[in-house]
Amino acid sequence: MNQLDELIDFLRFPSVSADGQFKPQVEACADWLTGRLQKIGLQVQKFPTAGHPVVVARNEHKAGRKTVLIYGHYDVQPPDPMELWDSPPFEPVIRGDKIFARGSTDNKGQILAHVLGVEGALKEKGDLPVNLILLIEGEEEVGSPHLEGFLKEHQSALQTDVIAISDTGMVAPGIPTFSYCLRGILCLEVRLRGPSADLHSGIFGGSVANPATVLSRLIAKLHDEKGHIAVPRFYDRVAPLEDWERELWTKLPYTEEQWQATAGVPKLGGEEGYTFLERVWARPTAEVNGFASGYQGEGSKTIVPSRAMAKLSFRLVPNQDPAELRGIITNFLKAECPDSVQIEIIDQHSGKPYIVKPDSTFGKAAQKALAATFDKPVAFIREGGSIPITQTFKEVLGVDTLLLGLALPDCKAHSPNENFAIDNFYAGIRLNRYLLEEIARAA
Ligand code: BES
Ligand code: MN
Repeated sequence: MNQLDELIDFLRFPSVSADGQFKPQVEACADWLTGRLQKIGLQVQKFPTAGHPVVVARNEHKAGRKTVLIYGHYDVQPPDPMELWDSPPFEPVIRGDKIFARGSTDNKGQILAHVLGVEGALKEKGDLPVNLILLIEGEEEVGSPHLEGFLKEHQSALQTDVIAISDTGMVAPGIPTFSYCLRGILCLEVRLRGPSADLHSGIFGGSVANPATVLSRLIAKLHDEKGHIAVPRFYDRVAPLEDWERELWTKLPYTEEQWQATAGVPKLGGEEGYTFLERVWARPTAEVNGFASGYQGEGSKTIVPSRAMAKLSFRLVPNQDPAELRGIITNFLKAECPDSVQIEIIDQHSGKPYIVKPDSTFGKAAQKALAATFDKPVAFIREGGSIPITQTFKEVLGVDTLLLGLALPDCKAHSPNENFAIDNFYAGIRLNRYLLEEIARAA
């Protein structure tokens, strides 16, 4: 079977971690991966967790060689809204130079490229230049709730010199990109309860608070008119951007027009006083990810809704701490909420930001591998997205993570019509080979 057909097989599993309805398919996907890794000749184990399984594979480790842990995830985001897909999310199709399916970029295409790179090296040379651990989890898209416990439990078996992840972006096609920072994240759900049941808005409207209105006002209080977050103490620990970063970023092949077009917005928005890249990469945010209240059906219905709900998330930057901010934000929302409604705040997942110096010994090895793969100078970026386990790797295993991603700006990760550039799939296979060789050589 050719490499692209294997990717198609992998993409057919609807391994949606967020929705319990898909549990059997997530498991089936882990089984497929386990089988695929066994076929290469690696030692593979599928570990159950309280959530979805973790798949770990390793070659025969030999003394005197560097150890590399490659991390990725086989779970995917929910595919909805289904009606906006041009082809079904779990029936992969190739159109032009891209393959379209949920998970194609994030993260199945990128992780399979690593697997195939390893397979190629083993076939050709009979051995790898390093001791390898592949750690592929099924809960990244829901905040890796069981992975920290897993790392602690298997700490000695997971000892490594360095970690590599291909689950971040490239600035443009063909430009090798080294990411040295990820934002952290904090998610919560706010629930308001007004009347004990929906009320006739003619009989009661005006005499009771409307939870949808109250929630809208609460949400509006998160920002001031300049787009700064208005929660007191929110910015206390934010590390300022350094001069070398600003300098490097001015050389990147990004324009505001392009960013606006990729986002599909009539005009960019955000915090005053920062460029669009600074807003995404170096500034924290507060977002509403979902909002529900009242009647959603056809026509009108004259009620004061009983409840209103919003799902909120905050992207965090070094050195913000999600645990501390959870308290700060929860207290703020509760203090600002009028007592004409009841407020409940449900804690959801969170993860710390991650930042690393790009020019460490292994960082330089990764840069060489990237440059060799694409035959171009490397771009250095931060990322707006989060991979919470990176900072946990640092804290539990004591090692740095190299972020060598292959996602293009228009890959539509988490959106309808997610796609992976086929060139980048093959580039990922080459990158894996160069990376293991460069790490083996790094002094
Ligand atoms: N691959 C992304 C992380 C990412 C996105 C890195 C964009 C760089 C740029 C990852 O799979 C992801 O989506 N992570 C989630 C984490 C969350 C659910 C805890 C995210 O960032 O929303
Ligand atoms: Mn993702």
